[in-house]
Amino acid sequence: MRKTITEQIRQDATTFTPGEEAAIRRAGDLICGGGLVAFPTETVYGLGGDALNADSSRKIYAAKGRPSDNPLIVHICRFSDMERIVSRIPETAVQIADAFWPGPLTMILPKSKAVPDETTGGLDTVAVRLPSHPVARRLIEYSGGYVAAPSANRSGRPSPTSARYVLEDMDGRIDMVLDGGTVGIGLESTVVDLTCETPQILRPGYVTQEMLAALLGRVDTDVTILRDDSGQAPRAPGMKYRHYAPKADMVIVEGEAGRVADYINRHTAQDKARGEKTGVIGTRENLDRYRADVVKCLGGRKDEESIARNLYGALRQMDEEEVTKIYSEGFTSEGFGQAIMNRLLKAAGHRVVRV
Ligand code: TXA
Ligand code: MG
Repeated sequence: MRKTITEQIRQDATTFTPGEEAAIRRAGDLICGGGLVAFPTETVYGLGGDALNADSSRKIYAAKGRPSDNPLIVHICRFSDMERIVSRIPETAVQIADAFWPGPLTMILPKSKAVPDETTGGLDTVAVRLPSHPVARRLIEYSGGYVAAPSANRSGRPSPTSARYVLEDMDGRIDMVLDGGTVGIGLESTVVDLTCETPQILRPGYVTQEMLAALLGRVDTDVTILRDDSGQAPRAPGMKYRHYAPKADMVIVEGEAGRVADYINRHTAQDKARGEKTGVIGTRENLDRYRADVVKCLGGRKDEESIARNLYGALRQMDEEEVTKIYSEGFTSEGFGQAIMNRLLKAAGHRVVRV
């Protein structure tokens, strides 16, 4: 096992002290030399390696324990850098970049020969993202401009929203972590495929279907995103895995707040009698109602940004506290809520009870 170095960068820093600058430069040198560095982005922490180096991509898959058919996102820091890795830039990509880059959105485009098959899991398309987080952008610049970065979790675990969670999964498996505090959004970027006639959302995120449709006119959403009964395989290879999952069994309970709490309390009482450790993931308004062993608050019911930011941390804390049975409130699947529900459904293996 190698030692993973941690370097601190002040949370929300937009300019860097000489010490921070040196740390980011060292991280960039590590990536240029074929090493792996985890770093904050505005969505979740990424596990970065040189996207144009096949060996670096192999190392990323190995460090994550990720199936190698699940392609990586290439992170850039300037729109013009796209020219080297994409064979054709459609007008929609320019429009989307003008509206949402830098930011939490990834575009799927036809790849150029510069991108090794290892990075794209053998696909002839490449996922490209230009993040807004200042640490991410500086690191990409120091890394030669092209950083392949999946979320910095072991495959199947919730994406890390702080450096502590990165180390929980990756300590000794990667060279360095740039610790920039907790991330702002907390859920991964919106993935939109621009290689089909009508742009299609393959993974919902902070940039919503409504926002994209307002810009482009028609935008589709992969039918597998909010249901698992379509009989179709998701078009983003990563969406087919039971991702984002805590170790415990999890069920989402939807309905009027009082009935939801009654259902959960009845079931947690039965679970406890069977020796299970029970947990509830809920919102501030309803917290007092629950009688489970562990109750985690995601924030106010109407505060979607807080719910998103706290979700993965809550799932990880359930594991830390060795909860074996989790009940979660459900949320609307409109707007940004669609991304929240998509991740919750995946964590719960699509188990939903309506009361
Ligand atoms: O917010 C994010 O996107 C974070 C941060 C670190 O930037 N990264 C991230 O990467 O979530 P990852 O590897 O955990 O998820 C990438 C998703 C997967 O579902 C993958 O299958 C899909 O994007 N994807 C990547 N390349 C693709 C391609 N060429 N075609 C279709 N889907 C692709
Ligand atoms: Mg991931």
